[in-house]
Amino acid sequence: MKKVLILVCAILMVSSLSALALDRKKGDIAHGKKIFREQCKSCHNGKKAKKLTPAHKTRAQWKRYLKDNAKKLNRKHKRANVEVKLSEKDINDLWAFCYVGALDSEKPQTCD
Ligand code: HEC
Repeated sequence: MKKVLILVCAILMVSSLSALALDRKKGDIAHGKKIFREQCKSCHNGKKAKKLTPAHKTRAQWKRYLKDNAKKLNRKHKRANVEVKLSEKDINDLWAFCYVGALDSEKPQTCD
């Protein structure tokens, strides 16, 4: 019983360590833009998937998609049988770019 508990604790600790703390100040906006253009727009152009740019969502919405290692984003894509691979750094870069270009930012970005 004790061993099981220790194992459960260990798993919880490891999984909490691997959950990325979303931090846009660590993100590289220019690289986030590159990722969006290269890895998102290829589908989200209104043909394969609905058109999507940073200006389509608010900062709070983007945050919800990208927090916890982009959990919500992955869930949405899994449902559509799509796998988008992003490293922890990529997620922060994307968050930095979507933050400055969001619908409720000073300069919404359409990424065109
Ligand atoms: C291989 C194609 C593909 C790629 C690449 C892709 N997506 Fe998607 N995405 C989809 C599909 C299909 C859906 C679900 C249907 C839809 O919303 O059009 C979706 C859904 C979403 C949604 C939910 C939309 C909503 O309003 O509910 C978001 C947000 C999103 N994708 C963002 C991204 C971002 C950010 C990237 C780049 C990191 C990306 N996607 C890359 C195909 C893709």
